[in-house]
Amino acid sequence: MTKSNNRESQYPINPLFLERWSPRAFTGEVIDESDLLTILDAAHWAPSSANQQPWRFIYALKGSEDWDKFVGLLVESNQEWAKNASALIYLVSRGFSGDFSEGRTSYTHSFDAGTAWGYLALQALLSGFYAHGMGGIKHEEIQKTFSIPEGYRVEAGVAVGRLADKSMLSERYREREVPSQRRPLSEVAFRGKFIAN
Ligand SMILES: Cc1cc2nc3c(=O)[nH]c(=O)nc-3n(C[C@H](O)[C@H](O)[C@H](O)COP(=O)(O)O)c2cc1C
Repeated sequence: MTKSNNRESQYPINPLFLERWSPRAFTGEVIDESDLLTILDAAHWAPSSANQQPWRFIYALKGSEDWDKFVGLLVESNQEWAKNASALIYLVSRGFSGDFSEGRTSYTHSFDAGTAWGYLALQALLSGFYAHGMGGIKHEEIQKTFSIPEGYRVEAGVAVGRLADKSMLSERYREREVPSQRRPLSEVAFRGKFIAN
C-alpha cells in the first residue's frame, strides 16, 4: 500500500497517483507558455491506436486576449472557479483515420484522447501545477467558435493552475475541496469474469 494526501492505495503504487487530484482553488497566476507546452508535450507522448495521435489541444493562457472567450465556453458552475486557473485547454479528438472523405472511423479516438488527458494531469503535477478535467463545457459553442469540422469530437476542458487556499472558494466548493477516495479495487478488477455493478 501507499499513503499520501489523505489517500491510501491497496497495493504499492507510486505516490504520484495519490498526489494528483482535482482542486478548484487556483492562484490565478500567469503561467509561462513553455510550462504549459511542457505539460502538453507529455500528453502528446501518450500511446494511441496505430499511433494515430488523435488528441488536439486548444489552449489559452491567463492574461491573454483569448482568456475571457475560453472562460465563457465553460458551463457557469465551472466558470466560477476555473476563471482563476492559469491556463484553459479544450481537448478535441480526431475521429477518423486517413482522409475524412475515406470514411475510415477510429474506434479508439476518445479512449486515446483520455490517455493523453491522464498524462497531462500527471505532468502538471510533476511541473508543480494541478490539472482539473471538465465535462461541463459548451460543446457545440466550442465547435462553432473554433470552426472544428465534422469528424472531430470536443471531448473535455481542462483547467491548469497552481494550488491556492480553499478559503477563496464559495462555500459549496470549499466543502468539496479535498482529494477524493476510490471504491475497493475488487469492485472494478475481476479475475476471469465480469461483474456488472
Ligand atoms: C472527463 C472529466 C470531466 C470532469 N468534469 C468536471 C466538471 O465539469 N466540473 C468539475 O468541477 N469537476 C469535473 N471533473 C473532476 C472529477 O469530478 C474528479 O476528477 C473526480 O471526482 C475524482 O477526483 P480527483 O480528480 O480529485 O481524484 C471531471 C473529471 C474528468 C476526468
